Amino acid sequence: MNLTSEEQSILAGGQGKAVQTAMQILTALGRMYGAARMITIRSVQIAGVSYDNLGEAGLEWLSEMADGGGHARVPTTLNPAGMDLENWRALGIPADFAERQFQVIDAFSRMGATPTCTCTPYLAGNVPSFGESIAWAESSAVCYANSVIGARTNREGGPSALAAALTGRTAEYGMHLAENRAPGVTIDVRARLTGTADFGALGKAIGGRIEALGRKPVPWIAGSESASLEELKSFCASIATYAGLALFHMQGVTPEADRYPPPAERIVITEDDLQASKRSLSDAGDEDADFVSLGCPHLTIAEVARIAEILRGKKTTREFWITTSRAVKLAADRLGYTETIEASGAKFAVDTCCVVAPIRGRFRVLATDSAKACYYARSKNQFKTRLMDFDRVAEAAIARLKE
Ligand code: F3S
Repeated sequence: MNLTSEEQSILAGGQGKAVQTAMQILTALGRMYGAARMITIRSVQIAGVSYDNLGEAGLEWLSEMADGGGHARVPTTLNPAGMDLENWRALGIPADFAERQFQVIDAFSRMGATPTCTCTPYLAGNVPSFGESIAWAESSAVCYANSVIGARTNREGGPSALAAALTGRTAEYGMHLAENRAPGVTIDVRARLTGTADFGALGKAIGGRIEALGRKPVPWIAGSESASLEELKSFCASIATYAGLALFHMQGVTPEADRYPPPAERIVITEDDLQASKRSLSDAGDEDADFVSLGCPHLTIAEVARIAEILRGKKTTREFWITTSRAVKLAADRLGYTETIEASGAKFAVDTCCVVAPIRGRFRVLATDSAKACYYARSKNQFKTRLMDFDRVAEAAIARLKE
């Protein structure tokens, strides 16, 4: 790899231990992926923030990096933590977990990261522009940044995202190179899509077909005509989960789609495929949900407004977590939505979500509109799941509802 004299000096330890470690991580990755050089980046988003995922070894490493004098050189935000940083007791988070989680946040803060704790940084002040190079880690946000915004980022791991923050650089490979952004397969969607649950199910259906190819071509998606911000964030989370993709192009919707003709290789997704995908995301049979959550990825203010409308004057009959960023929650406070929602008994779970909080085994069945949440609720938290349309999820919190 060609390194500038400054990069060589960092690698030799000229700017302290933590930055040296960061450059070692980046050059190792760059060599592994055949990068010719480092490039500067405009922002970083770090995942691996929940103590539930990091554990003691992760916390120790972060503390060492902070003690080693590392400091972010570009705007850096954090993924959700394992708890609401202000209201963790109301969510039943144990005090010893909270203590460790605060130590994680403290280590990141000492390194100059802003503890936004959200997987939708693009709704909370960390907003890249078209063509900009960034280093983000949360898979749904990476897919959103590449596909919907047209920024350029690989899916970083926790350590490599932190390394990018401490150096202001990343190795130039993968999604940073124009040739890797070209589509390789056309996805012809012949199904009616209405709402976030449908778009999540579509991501799983496409993911299954792409996995079956045994390679990961960038999909060029035709037939969905339009998609709201909320539908796109649901789709990004799902296709990143079920196909491991960091980029797609959607005809008439995403900014780079028009640059390319539709690839000759074609996959058709029918209405039957979509319905089969939706059914596969519900495995609870007749069992009612005892846990209801909306906000995977974190909710927009429009989604919070809709929940408030549904819950107005009602009482919830089961645990209902509304997961969003602190920025959106503050807007909800000012607009009066928080009062309406909390009067119903529903709880805001800000800074966190139903996947990264330490709630393994605490509930039996999760009702959600998120295909990604279904995947992790089953694999990480051992819940069964019911995928439902957005409004039906909120209604399920106030009544015994069968699908
Ligand atoms: Fe965000 Fe948690 Fe879903 S981090 S994308 S709400 S699993």
